[in-house]
Amino acid sequence: MDKAIELNAVDTTYEGEKIPCLKNITLHINKGEFIAVIGPNGAGKTTLLETINGLLESNRGEVKVLGKALRGDGNSIRKYVGYVPQDYSIDELTPFLVSDVVLMGRYGKIGLLKPITKKDKEIASNMMEYMGINNISKRPIGKLSGGQAQKVMIARALAKEPEIILMDEPFSNLDFEARREVSEKLIHFHKNKGMTFVIVIHDIASIPKSCNRVIVMDNGRIVADGNKEDILKPELLEMGYKGMVC
Ligand SMILES: Nc1ncnc2c1ncn2[C@@H]1O[C@H](COP(=O)(O)OP(=O)(O)O)[C@@H](O)[C@H]1O
Ligand SMILES: [Mg+2]
Repeated sequence: MDKAIELNAVDTTYEGEKIPCLKNITLHINKGEFIAVIGPNGAGKTTLLETINGLLESNRGEVKVLGKALRGDGNSIRKYVGYVPQDYSIDELTPFLVSDVVLMGRYGKIGLLKPITKKDKEIASNMMEYMGINNISKRPIGKLSGGQAQKVMIARALAKEPEIILMDEPFSNLDFEARREVSEKLIHFHKNKGMTFVIVIHDIASIPKSCNRVIVMDNGRIVADGNKEDILKPELLEMGYKGMVC
């Protein structure tokens, strides 16, 4: 089976730190998988996503994305990887409109200095409609509610039409109904576009139905990795991961 992501004995250490944040991570993800990553605050979930997309450089082991070794060069795979970051502090006075931000997803695919075509605009516009943010498309991005901004970031990542999509707590600002709605849309994308999904989820009740595999992290390590039914067994949660799944 074709691998989307391959980490072999990877350590990632933050600058100025002695102890690696990610410790000896080996993780193989096949194309088309839908993975949820869970674990307590500080477990290394964000660091894992940023190591996969090359925002952080690992200092030991090997990271391969779509068969290509990263070696600190995130740009080489950026085109194929969509990312919804956990923290996106948006300046209230930023001049960008929602429609500009979603269109940035297209730049991510075609290259920053390439001309935007009618087709790119169409894809961005369809994505706004799909995510239910058409009505706010001409509002400045800095003046949205947390939930609206989160939907815009998701629309931007999807507009890139990436092969792999990494999302870091994408539902954290959404209410219950919006979580269900957005989750359904992600499931649709997974099914119909064959994208590989890796989603960090805070609340295990929000894990989308398509998710086939759950990874549990703690203290920079993967402490459990298996299919959803096995990992999320109530008795296991009760015994082993008590307090870890938050
Ligand atoms: N820029 C940084 N410099 C040093 N340590 C960091 C930095 N960012 C995160 N860390 C540390 O790395 C660990 C993992 O953080 P993170 O990946 O954000 O965890 P999670 O996303 O699971 O909450 C934490 O102990 C955190 O304090
Ligand atoms: Mg995090």
